[in-house]
Amino acid sequence: MSRIEDLLERMTLAEKLGQLTMTASGYAVTGPVIAGDSTESIRDGTIGNLLNMIGAGPVHEMQRIAVEQSRLGIPLLIGLDIIHGHRTLFPIPLGETAVFDPATWERTAREAAREAAADGLAMTFAPMLDVSRDLRWGRTAEGPGEDTLIGVLMAHAKVRGFQGDDPSAPDALAACAKHFCAYGPVMGGREYAAVDISERTLREVHLPPFEAAVKAGVETIMPAFTDLNGIPMTMHIPLLRDYLRGDLGWDGVLVSDYNAIGELIKHGVAADLVEAATLSLKAGVDIDMMAGAYRHGLPIALERGLVTIDEIDTCVRRVLRLKERLGLFDDPYRRGRKAEKADAIRQRRELARDVGARSITMLRNQNGALPLDPPPRRLCVLGPLADAAAEMRGPWFAASEPDDPVSVLAGLRDGFPGTGIVHATGAAIDDTDETGIGDAVALCDDADAVILCLGERANMSGEAASRAYPELPGRQEALARAAIARARARGTPVIAILFSGRPLVIPWLADNADAILAAWFPGSQAGHAVADVLAGRVSPGGRTPISWPRALGQVPVFYGQRPSGRPMDPKDPYTSRYLDVANDPLYPFGHGLGYGRFTYANLRLSTDTLRECDVVQIGVDVSNEGEREAEETVFLFTRDKVACVTRPLLELRGFAKIRLDAGRTGTVEMSLAGSELRFLDAGLRGVFEPGDVEVLVGPCADRAQLLGASLRQI
Ligand code: GLC
Repeated sequence: MSRIEDLLERMTLAEKLGQLTMTASGYAVTGPVIAGDSTESIRDGTIGNLLNMIGAGPVHEMQRIAVEQSRLGIPLLIGLDIIHGHRTLFPIPLGETAVFDPATWERTAREAAREAAADGLAMTFAPMLDVSRDLRWGRTAEGPGEDTLIGVLMAHAKVRGFQGDDPSAPDALAACAKHFCAYGPVMGGREYAAVDISERTLREVHLPPFEAAVKAGVETIMPAFTDLNGIPMTMHIPLLRDYLRGDLGWDGVLVSDYNAIGELIKHGVAADLVEAATLSLKAGVDIDMMAGAYRHGLPIALERGLVTIDEIDTCVRRVLRLKERLGLFDDPYRRGRKAEKADAIRQRRELARDVGARSITMLRNQNGALPLDPPPRRLCVLGPLADAAAEMRGPWFAASEPDDPVSVLAGLRDGFPGTGIVHATGAAIDDTDETGIGDAVALCDDADAVILCLGERANMSGEAASRAYPELPGRQEALARAAIARARARGTPVIAILFSGRPLVIPWLADNADAILAAWFPGSQAGHAVADVLAGRVSPGGRTPISWPRALGQVPVFYGQRPSGRPMDPKDPYTSRYLDVANDPLYPFGHGLGYGRFTYANLRLSTDTLRECDVVQIGVDVSNEGEREAEETVFLFTRDKVACVTRPLLELRGFAKIRLDAGRTGTVEMSLAGSELRFLDAGLRGVFEPGDVEVLVGPCADRAQLLGASLRQI
């Protein structure tokens, strides 16, 4: 008999429900309910899983109680939100997405897994795969931006990175694809609000990243808190049981979000914990995180005949199998037995610095304000995010300490050793006090350049952080206006650096700063990454993974919208437009400048007809007509102008990078399979439809910047 079947035979109901329970240990607070000491429950086997522990010592201590003191010795599964690093933080996911490099996305997850496993952890609650087109929603910071293909590529990269080739390895973590699904389009961009979208949008936009995670072998999935079209995800039988386990054949572990099963009562679909537990178990949710619904509700549900012991055993079996795959039975102390070598930690920091720099997205650079090369004699650094190390971590900072990161000010002092640097905050992140602005901007007078470090506090994005006015908080714009006015009087360039978990609505700054960098939250090596870009040691490589609106009223604004029967025509008022703002975003998806200047020419296709089984090769010549070496990200889109249903104005099909010295020309080759052009017809059936399709390449989702060629699907 297998170990698992043997255990199942010997387990009491309380021990079985213990394996279906995950409780927070209190080392980090990530939800509204705080757990106390779980030691006794671990000893009596009524808690089988923990979250929010940090450190190999404490983890092994809890593991020892479970393995050596409980009746059956079943090891604990212990997880943490390792979203973009553990102790060494990489840029927040939205910022890392801006790098547009799946190999990098995988590598940072691999490094995070190594660091977290060395701390004894066996599971992360990542990757977060929620496609978001609404910057009001704070969790846009945690995800892959607005595009589904990017979500798919991110899913694959992160699952491979966290889990590695062998989930039982001492440096592997079980990944958790979350939040399944369609959490991004919460009503009004308001956190935890209901979601109401079409079946088409669900299938075309929000499901593919999770399908990719399943194909990549993800061990666990977390349903979203949200109600999708009237059914809370935590009890969503059609999507959890029928789609994930049925259609996709996925047999991994479903772990509820924090107290989400208990919250079915507030959703108004369960009268009490017994009913809530029943609904989730019927949907196949295996682990109850923090609601105590399975522990306290299922025994009664069982007595009432609402659930069966077989249904419970099925979930227990999946949890025990996961622990077995992770090697926890064979060696529960495998993770955290060996401390990492100093060299590994140093290399990880170097990677964080490199990825941090490459995530920085240069939105504007007038008159060559950047790079600051040769280094200026004197720099004036203003703003509340200049000397704010803790904020550089972003909203999900895991095991990183507040003073771990390198602040911008520290990075500039290190990166510009021969430059005099003066600094003043000038205004706080989000209060109304303007009294510091006058003295602060006086420091501009003797400077060769002014750096404004502006933006959000880290906790103004992430979970429970929707903003109805996603602008520069507080009096930061007043600081910027005063500084730019003062500096302009002397012809001194002003570079604004934005630190945020979302695009900020910055119409005035966009017209008046000489240069603007979106730094997102760059993580542990923030200051060095910023200095490397400002000094020109690294050409900013970031491309915005989400359309940057001119005005909040445009939201949701994204490049893949459908055409409308009255597409905007400036000469015709009766077309799709606003009276008070243009339709297009301030910066389109994929926008980002570098220190080169790229032009495109000679787009060519290997064929002008394409069957579903064919693959077309696409080539384009790219020239760097700038003065400095730089890397260009070339995007490949298609546009299907006539089809049986309306089709998006652009669809991303891929991207490639090319690094060119000044004055050099290179060729970018990409391929497109006919099968990738399938779409859902009026009946939501996948079809490959004969007809013309445009193939377009260029630097971003701005039609005016794209080269196009026609292809006939046959
Ligand atoms: C939080 C989040 C989820 C996280 C979990 C554990 O509420 O919604 O993303 O993984 O609880 O911290």
